[in-house]
Amino acid sequence: MNFKNFNSKNDKEIEQMIRVNQAGEFGAKRIYDGQLAVLKNNKKYRIIKKMADQEEQHLKTFNKIMIEKGIRPTVLSPLWDIGGFVLGATTASISTEAAMACTVAVEEVIDKHYEDQKTLLHKSRKDKKLLKTIEKFRLEELEHRDIALKNNAEQTRNYKTLTKAIKTITSIAIFLSKKI
Ligand SMILES: [Fe+2]
Ligand SMILES: [Fe+2]
Repeated sequence: MNFKNFNSKNDKEIEQMIRVNQAGEFGAKRIYDGQLAVLKNNKKYRIIKKMADQEEQHLKTFNKIMIEKGIRPTVLSPLWDIGGFVLGATTASISTEAAMACTVAVEEVIDKHYEDQKTLLHKSRKDKKLLKTIEKFRLEELEHRDIALKNNAEQTRNYKTLTKAIKTITSIAIFLSKKI
């Protein structure tokens, strides 16, 4: 892969955005992989599979942008890989409601994350195509959150504690993946 030099602040910012977004979408895909592995015969399988397929598209898009722009992936990819799967499998093992609560927590963090990126890109007027992509994906993430809420996410035991913990983990992983 050809790594370009990023000199201006904006280019550095965009590089970080794409790196962390690719990582996040990879993590999202792995969360759903984990949930689907546990819930193979569950009646919620198809609902989750549909969201997983969308995450797959998000990931493919960021993979493509990364290659086009010559941006390296985060060194934390294995963490997103294993961490995502374990998070998905663990929550699904508790209950389908806990799996849905996991989706709510992750999507709320991602919504905020994409919203922040939108503001930055809007200000810098740097990459309109990326801005559009992020907005499209953000809206789909919000759909996922709503689907999870409709599927009784809030009825899981310890909903608040569980979602708070998942939000913290996701935020830390996002922060680190921007940098390394
Ligand atoms: Fe996504
Ligand atoms: Fe999502």
